[in-house]
Amino acid sequence: MLQDITSRERRRGRSVGLVPTMGALHAGHMSLIKRARAENDIVVVSIFVNPAQFAAGEDFNKYPRDLASDAGMIQDKADYLFAPEAWALYPSGYNTWVYVEGLSEGKLCGRFRPGHFKGVATIVLKLFNIIQPDRAYFGLKDYQQSVIIRKMASDLDLSVDIVLCPTIREPDGLAMSSRNAYLAPEEREAARALYEALQAGAGLVRSGAGPEKAKTEMQKILSSRPLISEIQYASVYNPETLEELSAIEKTPVLLAGAIRIGNTRLIDNVLVNELK
Ligand code: PAF
Repeated sequence: MLQDITSRERRRGRSVGLVPTMGALHAGHMSLIKRARAENDIVVVSIFVNPAQFAAGEDFNKYPRDLASDAGMIQDKADYLFAPEAWALYPSGYNTWVYVEGLSEGKLCGRFRPGHFKGVATIVLKLFNIIQPDRAYFGLKDYQQSVIIRKMASDLDLSVDIVLCPTIREPDGLAMSSRNAYLAPEEREAARALYEALQAGAGLVRSGAGPEKAKTEMQKILSSRPLISEIQYASVYNPETLEELSAIEKTPVLLAGAIRIGNTRLIDNVLVNELK
């Protein structure tokens, strides 16, 4: 069992780094694996499309899955691949959930994906318990997820170090995501608007504009572009509490957005660390 292997490695004084993923690996995941490789003796990659973080009607069934190709991509970059079946992690009668209050529901993606972060926190804690990593690596593209996981680790006194890594982007700025594969060519072209809007908002914030002006500009850009079927949110937030800001008193400041292009939901964010 992987648990025995990683405990043995740790007893031998070897550090274990975990990169939790849902597969369909891309350059963003590979950057997490590279960082884990540089900072740990042993690198474990998990691939598990977690049913508990998809609501009814979301893309669980069509989420891209290609275990053989993923395994090939990490063959010489990680030491262990953990790819359990759903029944092994959620056997019949499974009934225990982890819920990080205050950050999960009602804010950003939590407003549009009820139950999503409960599913994320639960699976991440289960993976931590199974693999017992010293460090675990997450991408900042899923900003809300990273804040929730850090809070869970702190509130539950977990000894794992949560390492947050920069978003990896396509040349036109689109954040790498397994869901980009859903986009038809013209939708892919339209998708660049999300990062453009965030950059425009961030530019305004950096030069002293208030959140309302930045929000208006982001919404204006997004609503003027073709094929964007829904703007779920695009605004300026406190990066710790995820509250929408009405004034900017200190940095960092989070600008985040979620849109739909056709049926594909895309999220992205930018942090402004300094004001001019
Ligand atoms: O970010 C993801 O891919 C997933 O939410 C995670 C952290 C692997 C949990 O299923």
